[in-house]
Amino acid sequence: MRYHQVVVVGGGLAGLRAALELNKRNVKVAVVSKVHPLRSHSVEAQGGINASLGNHPRGSHDSPELHAFDTVKGSDYLADQKAALRLTEDAPKRVREMEHWGVPFSRTPDGKIAQRPFGGAGFPRTCFASDKTGHVLLHTLFEQCVKYEQASERGEMVIYDEQIVTGLVVDEGVCHGVIVWNFQTGEIDVIKSEAVIFATGGAGRIFGKTTNALVSTGLGMAIPYWGGVPIKDFEFVQFHPTTLFGTNILMTEGARGEGGFLLNNEGERFLANYDDSSKAMEVAPRDIVARNMTREIDEGRGFEDEYLHLDLRHLGREKILERLPGIRDLAMKFVHVDPIEAPIPVQPGMHYTMGGIDTDETGASRVPGFYAAGECGCVSVHGANRLGGNSMLETIVYGAIAGDSAAQFVLDGGSGKVPDEKIFDDAKNRELARLEGMFNGGNENPADIKDELESTMNRKCWVFREENTLQEGIEKIEELRERYKNITLNSSGLRLNFDLLWALELGGNLTMAEVMIKGAARRKESRGSQFRTDYPTRDDAKWLEHTLAYYAQDGPRFEASDVDLSIWEPKERKY
Ligand code: FUM
Repeated sequence: MRYHQVVVVGGGLAGLRAALELNKRNVKVAVVSKVHPLRSHSVEAQGGINASLGNHPRGSHDSPELHAFDTVKGSDYLADQKAALRLTEDAPKRVREMEHWGVPFSRTPDGKIAQRPFGGAGFPRTCFASDKTGHVLLHTLFEQCVKYEQASERGEMVIYDEQIVTGLVVDEGVCHGVIVWNFQTGEIDVIKSEAVIFATGGAGRIFGKTTNALVSTGLGMAIPYWGGVPIKDFEFVQFHPTTLFGTNILMTEGARGEGGFLLNNEGERFLANYDDSSKAMEVAPRDIVARNMTREIDEGRGFEDEYLHLDLRHLGREKILERLPGIRDLAMKFVHVDPIEAPIPVQPGMHYTMGGIDTDETGASRVPGFYAAGECGCVSVHGANRLGGNSMLETIVYGAIAGDSAAQFVLDGGSGKVPDEKIFDDAKNRELARLEGMFNGGNENPADIKDELESTMNRKCWVFREENTLQEGIEKIEELRERYKNITLNSSGLRLNFDLLWALELGGNLTMAEVMIKGAARRKESRGSQFRTDYPTRDDAKWLEHTLAYYAQDGPRFEASDVDLSIWEPKERKY
């Protein structure tokens, strides 16, 4: 049985940043990743990372306080305010640290990190590396990890890739490690540890129309949820305004930040016609832009009733090649449109889950020894709507914070509980029996359940929500949950069994979809990304609270918790 002081689950930005912090504090850490770390979804992040560096003349007055205020206002006042301020206070130092580690940021003429406008700030605050910011950040963090993996003078760091965590070992309410399925060998094993940090990313694949990679499923959130950790604010889903029609590949907000226009079928910049976006136009926050785009399409001013145009032609060839080469490439390959010559067909698509595993400001959950960071977690700094450019920032700020606090927990003696060795064997045997049991199923094809789940979420839990459709969605998901008990798998055995992996991920998706849609039906107000046509206004008197969902066999049990409003009074949101 393997042992590491701390196990980090997930090899994306948050996981690697947490691992580096643990290493810095001489704590022995293992990173367990379903895919090679460089194939994590973080690599696909495009447009940038926010920090109040003040490098652009229009943003020279910027400060962490201003950045925090914009984040809280953008969140429709559901973000915890001290957590948001910590995010923005740490931002400049974390971004510069990445620069010193070698990130090739785009530059101003005088050599500083360049910044572009993104939604919610009103001036350029988003640092970027062309439109491949996630790619360069992830490669740089991975290089740092490999350095310490190979020369372990500051404590051991090990990266296990293509190994899948399928469960937690929790005894008497304390987390003592994880159950791991080695995808290549087929072995089921336990890694014992004093603490576990989940950094498994988002759950976009609950939906069909999403910017998220195939690896971004609900399993990483469902595992702790099944193990007793609540999920916070999961009804809040970010729909990115500009995803490529047909595939929903991300077309970065940076394209609008650089000056791109959104046009309807009359050639009009329609955002001017809506009160909440008439000033900021294409760089209003994403929830507002996605809603107004959906209204245009629903009212017949889209193309083929499905999409709008993202027009970059006026930016000119040189700027497109320098600042947006990645999305140009994608548009040319996937829809045969060269944005230098023609507008890109775009529509809103699922992009991000603001909610996730409930943690405090240190990344700790209510289960001693269990932490979360990055998109799978919910600190909460994004509340009901995240500002573009704050997600990569959260991964490196709160990845470091979770790593540091898990290190402190371990160095202080951990939970103080010494578990009976038997719990590890029991956990392993139970998991083996559960996985092998999945080979003796009934007659349901998991691919059908997956398709039906995705289309249900696309239709019933989308940009605009209302009671009847949400209830229809809930009934369908309950039906799918029952049918899932009778799935049949085409391949047996535990070695390289994608059938089994996808079935496990589908189980996680069904669980998290149920938490999401029931949370959306329960919250009878409109706030940030959750827009209820039957409750079209924000209701602070009743609903200025976090949603907490606890696992129960027959579906989530909901509670509420307070929002930290200690710095700013909630106000109306206009841009
Ligand atoms: O549009 C984008 O480049 C996405 C950035 C983000 O989600 O923060």
